[in-house]
Amino acid sequence: MSSAIYPGSFDPITYGHIDILRRAKKLFSRLLIAIVANPNKAPLFSVSERVGITKETLAEVKICGVEVISYDGLLIECAKVNGVDAIVRGLRANSDFDYEFQMALTNRDLDSEIETVFFMTAGKYSFLSSSIVKEVKHYGGEVSSFVPKTVEDALARKFESLE
Ligand code: PNS
Repeated sequence: MSSAIYPGSFDPITYGHIDILRRAKKLFSRLLIAIVANPNKAPLFSVSERVGITKETLAEVKICGVEVISYDGLLIECAKVNGVDAIVRGLRANSDFDYEFQMALTNRDLDSEIETVFFMTAGKYSFLSSSIVKEVKHYGGEVSSFVPKTVEDALARKFESLE
């Protein structure tokens, strides 16, 4: 097994995602970040903005060789089209488990050749989510320990444009 897709909303990418990415990169020779165009929750950033911010962030944190793509529709179709062996997901807390379990079993039912592989969060990021980052920044709080500068700046510009 050597290739994997790391899917999500990435609205925006955080240090929690980056930690999972660095660890997944050690196990998979080919790794793609797949950004869903239309997540369940209304995104703050458009899909092209999320792709751009994610690419710029990878350059900032010096992660090379990870492709960034977007998809609209079923994740499993995106995984198949891109010929990967596995889907990577991060697990933070118990509260993630039900949804992740349901998603992994559904995806396995849709294609039993593609495994879902879970990475346990680093303890220091177990509380971190894109939603929390957006909320803190929205109310003028400090987010530099949660996201790289690229993301911090993109959030500042976005909230300014919405005022
Ligand atoms: O980062 P998120 O928002 O938790 O990611 C969830 C995501 C995008 C991976 C999931 O909602 C997804 O894959 N959506 C695409 C539609 C799909 O395949 N749904 C069935 C999954 S069981």
